[in-house]
Amino acid sequence: MSPSVEDEERRLASLVRAHDRWRGRESFNLLPSENSLSPTSRRYLGSDLAGRYTLPVPVTLEGETLDNSYTGTRYTDQIEQLANAAAGRVFRARFATTRPLSGHLAALSALVPLLPPKGTLLAIPPGEGGYDGYAADYVPKVFGYSVRALPTRGPCHRVEAEPAIDAIRRERPDAVVLGQSFFLFPYPLREIAEAAHEVGALVLYDASHVLGLIAGGVFQDPLREGADVLFGSTHKSFPGPQGGLLVTDREDLFQRIDPWLVWRIFDNAHWNRIAGLAQTLLELERNGTEYARTVVANSRALGRALADGGLPLLGEEWGFSESHQLHLDRARLRERHGLGTGALARRLETQRLLIDLVGRIGTAEVARLGLGPGEMARLADLLLRAGLRREKVAAEVLRWRREYPELKYR
Ligand SMILES: Cc1ncc(COP(=O)(O)O)c(C=O)c1O
Repeated sequence: MSPSVEDEERRLASLVRAHDRWRGRESFNLLPSENSLSPTSRRYLGSDLAGRYTLPVPVTLEGETLDNSYTGTRYTDQIEQLANAAAGRVFRARFATTRPLSGHLAALSALVPLLPPKGTLLAIPPGEGGYDGYAADYVPKVFGYSVRALPTRGPCHRVEAEPAIDAIRRERPDAVVLGQSFFLFPYPLREIAEAAHEVGALVLYDASHVLGLIAGGVFQDPLREGADVLFGSTHKSFPGPQGGLLVTDREDLFQRIDPWLVWRIFDNAHWNRIAGLAQTLLELERNGTEYARTVVANSRALGRALADGGLPLLGEEWGFSESHQLHLDRARLRERHGLGTGALARRLETQRLLIDLVGRIGTAEVARLGLGPGEMARLADLLLRAGLRREKVAAEVLRWRREYPELKYR
């Protein structure tokens, strides 16, 4: 017999409550792809905007020119303008759109209007920390692009100027896409941009992972260092609602991008998300520098403490990280502890400590909770005891987690 609608409603309510308790109050999130929203931003996600449309794109209907297909939009349109203006200020960019619904769609918002048909991309391969979406079988396959490898060096998959420039001169792509899912260190962007512009290639900087750091003025400043377009997800190191944004200083490019978005890349842009994103942008205008500096300081302090405690990490020679991520050294983890990153992450999960299964540890959300570099030794101790010595630390984690009921930097 199928369950009644009422039973399913009760079950759904209890699943959402349980999720909110588990992820929002009773565990530490160290997944670098995630963050948590301020209460105000979250409230806007649940506002009336969640069910509304606006489409401020002129259309002509039987000789009549309309400035929108919908009525009732007087506040919605102002919210979007406020969000775009805030994005322009935060990233010091002349042009901004907060419409992309995700980091992936922000990438398409740049690629599809700017690349010629059958265009060529130079992108970091997924095996070297690059985003899977740029691999031949995904975005390039859908849009008929060719993709060539932008090479990286060493186990941290650092992009170095010389091999990158060689690849740009050899491949002469239409666009160089920078940015990684495994992203520890900034790029020699000035040199790369100079070589790209010499061969007529655009430089597109996918900051999906590091957008919150760039907003706070740390990591690197892509638009000043030569990137033509900067885009990314708004929910990883950037502590906003799930979505994306795109900014540029180049009017010629923005004029090509902006009209392409509606009806080509997406239609509805989810205005409740844009209101929530506007709030996060304003919070970052207020507190973004302190937030971003704390995140990076956390990564370096946590890296040191974990490595000293015997958990093998990459990048020790460079202080482990300049971002919100740390990377486990898979080979040494297996050799020294007989563990894969998946087994380690599952073990930690049972103790209320969440890292990802592919070997990344993130420090952005714990910074939002109020943990700074001074707390990283204690966090490392819990990770080491639970992960390497199989100690049951869940009760201790829960007690500590409860000391941070409110988010900082809002
Ligand atoms: C470098 C990079 N670009 C794009 C994306 C896609 O972002 P989203 O999940 O917001 O679509 C990701 C996701 O992890 C990413 O790591």
